[in-house]
Amino acid sequence: MDVVVSTAKGITIKLRHFEKPDIRRVMEIEDESFLDGDAALYLELYEEWPGGFLVAENEGKVIGFVVLVLTPEGDGRVFAIAVDSRYRGVGVGKVLLKAAFNTLRKRKIGFVRLEVRVSNHVAHRLYRSMGFMEFGFIPFYYKDGEGAIMMRKVM
Ligand SMILES: CC(C)(COP(=O)(O)OP(=O)(O)OC[C@H]1O[C@@H](n2cnc3c(N)ncnc32)[C@H](O)[C@@H]1OP(=O)(O)O)[C@@H](O)C(=O)NCCC(=O)NCCS
Repeated sequence: MDVVVSTAKGITIKLRHFEKPDIRRVMEIEDESFLDGDAALYLELYEEWPGGFLVAENEGKVIGFVVLVLTPEGDGRVFAIAVDSRYRGVGVGKVLLKAAFNTLRKRKIGFVRLEVRVSNHVAHRLYRSMGFMEFGFIPFYYKDGEGAIMMRKVM
């Protein structure tokens, strides 16, 4: 699926499927983003649906990723999305989400959903700007007791 795109702020990135050697960079980005995942879980999700795990590369280096999973109802779910902190705010997150939507549309999936921490205003704003709407709240969803806003988008 290798695609080269420019973000709204002029950064050139290559979008491609995750490959196992990318796990080291994915974990570096995930660790600095405090997402609570672990390498074994990411590799398991990759094995379950290799096409649902996308990375963004800049000058040969992975600078962001998005992981999709399928819910038991057959909807898509954004399991995780993160961008290297040095490359945030230049449109990489939006490009990753758009690529994720294309992946879901190709599989004729009707809805995509996700959970976002109440305090994560940046991610919340990103999701709103990409057409997600709030539809629920789960108290104490995260390990540290913070609640999650549930968001959903029609594909
Ligand atoms: C959330 C995250 C993926 C966004 O990625 P990004 O590449 O920085 O986002 P973009 O540059 O594509 O910006 C997209 C939108 O997000 C919002 N946004 C981005 N940075 C922002 C900031 N510093 N303050 C407020 N809103 C911001 C804006 O709405 C922006 O759209 P605009 O530029 O048209 O205004 C990134 O901040 C990140 O990795 N955060 C840590 C991990 C995380 O919280 N993941 C989400 C939970 S799973």
